[in-house]
Amino acid sequence: MRRTADSPEAGPPVSPWWQDAVFYQVYVRSFADSDGDGVGDLEGIRSRLGYLELLGVDALWLTPFFRSPMADHGYDVADPRDVDPLFGDLAAFDRLVADTHNHGMKITIDLVPNHTSDQHPWFQEALRTGPGSRERERYHFRDGLGPDGSAPPNNWTSVFGGPAWTRVRDGQWYLHLFAPQQPDLHWEHADVRADLVRTLRFWLDRGVDGFRIDVAHGMAKPPGLPDMDPRAVTVMAGSTSPDFVDLRFDNDEVHDIHRLIRKVLDDYPGTMAVGEIWVDEEERFAAYVRPDELHLGFNFKLVEAEFDADSVRRAIDRSLAAVESTGAPATWTLSNHDVVRHVTRYGGGELGTRRARAMALVELALPGVTYIYNGEELGLPNVDLPDWALQDPTWERSGHTQRGRDGCRVPLPWEGEIPSYGFSRAGAAWLPMPPQWGSLTVEKQLEDPESMLSLYRHALEIRKTAQGFGGAELEWYGAPPGCFAFRRKGGGLICALNTSAASVPLPPGEILLSSGPMDGNQLPPETSVWLV
Ligand code: GLC
Repeated sequence: MRRTADSPEAGPPVSPWWQDAVFYQVYVRSFADSDGDGVGDLEGIRSRLGYLELLGVDALWLTPFFRSPMADHGYDVADPRDVDPLFGDLAAFDRLVADTHNHGMKITIDLVPNHTSDQHPWFQEALRTGPGSRERERYHFRDGLGPDGSAPPNNWTSVFGGPAWTRVRDGQWYLHLFAPQQPDLHWEHADVRADLVRTLRFWLDRGVDGFRIDVAHGMAKPPGLPDMDPRAVTVMAGSTSPDFVDLRFDNDEVHDIHRLIRKVLDDYPGTMAVGEIWVDEEERFAAYVRPDELHLGFNFKLVEAEFDADSVRRAIDRSLAAVESTGAPATWTLSNHDVVRHVTRYGGGELGTRRARAMALVELALPGVTYIYNGEELGLPNVDLPDWALQDPTWERSGHTQRGRDGCRVPLPWEGEIPSYGFSRAGAAWLPMPPQWGSLTVEKQLEDPESMLSLYRHALEIRKTAQGFGGAELEWYGAPPGCFAFRRKGGGLICALNTSAASVPLPPGEILLSSGPMDGNQLPPETSVWLV
């Protein structure tokens, strides 16, 4: 076990625990259901901590479990300092924190500062008190345009489709960058800032080790809320075109808010925050992880890369460049609850799985922090759900043109041959589970040394125990077209990836692990390898 800042002993300075941690994202609705209502919950997570310890992750990130009407499955928060009864209660949360720590893992939770639920008492008061009231100042209420105010105050669109404005009964409009049930807060209001501090301290005092900040590039809005060039629009899994500015996001004033967050965390040594930052330009990204702001920034460049050596290498180089000047470690993500699962992105079926295995070793060889999305260690594909099952607000908001994110949120299969595969006592989970997932269960994969789960366990074990993973820098080797190889400068581990159609000679070294069968001492297509 490496020495970390919160287990001090005499000796040279130690790195904080998160510096090279592997985080596991628990999408709470979909991980494990303890009470048989078909929806995952906190006790469900607690009952599976042994599994997470066996997998070998260092820390958990829990998606929102706060009081919510669930218009965006918990990212619409009505009370940020309480647990929604769907997921348990505060006592269950306290048990989960204690047990996670007993299993030797850290626990971090989501924080949703950009918006509240429309059922939040503040928004309800704002509706009640009407135009011009002080209560409205906590949100962005405006009169509409045109003689009767019937046009929205500006041309901004919502990330989920349609206008970013909704009109209320008295004629005013309010801003929501996401669903209408998620009104954006006005971050210049003192109440809004004070409430965030209260929320941070509330959970820190209960023992959490950190936060994932939802839409960390949101919150601040430009003065006057001017129209924007519609060509600039950022989608969740895309980036702003450098030629046009998306005025909804990444406004400079947001950095004050991150400094505020950091100040609170500094009162709790050993805690950290990672921002969800959909900002493409390296310099602008780097600003979020300056020494007095967030500790880490989510980096989506591997999500955006194709399964192609050049594309992946470019993503890696740009990711490292983005944090180079800041001292913050890079972070790596292949999938999360907002994007199509990578087995499917890489082509699906056997091909997608082979490529996903190869990319898992690439990701886990890189310097910095890795985020694993629950189910990726089982190689789960995205699920094509029937129309009737879709729940993501994107489906309705886009006029049924975009299916939304439900396909990557289907619950995890734990055991047995039929849905819901031990996820829930209920036969039916909140999203239907495919009948052919019997071979993907944790139970089956634990027994099979060739399974995706075994690959992840093995890789995580080696990452923790073997020499070779030190240092923040990479050195690239020359490699045949469609391939790359890099070496961790500090430790010496070599990782090679072949995305071409032919086997290629291996770099010299002793093989520690490969993502698939080797072809003599050649590296086969769609395969990666670790060497020392
Ligand atoms: C973030 C979350 C996403 C949510 C949105 C609005 O992007 O990851 O799931 O819908 O914020 O809160």
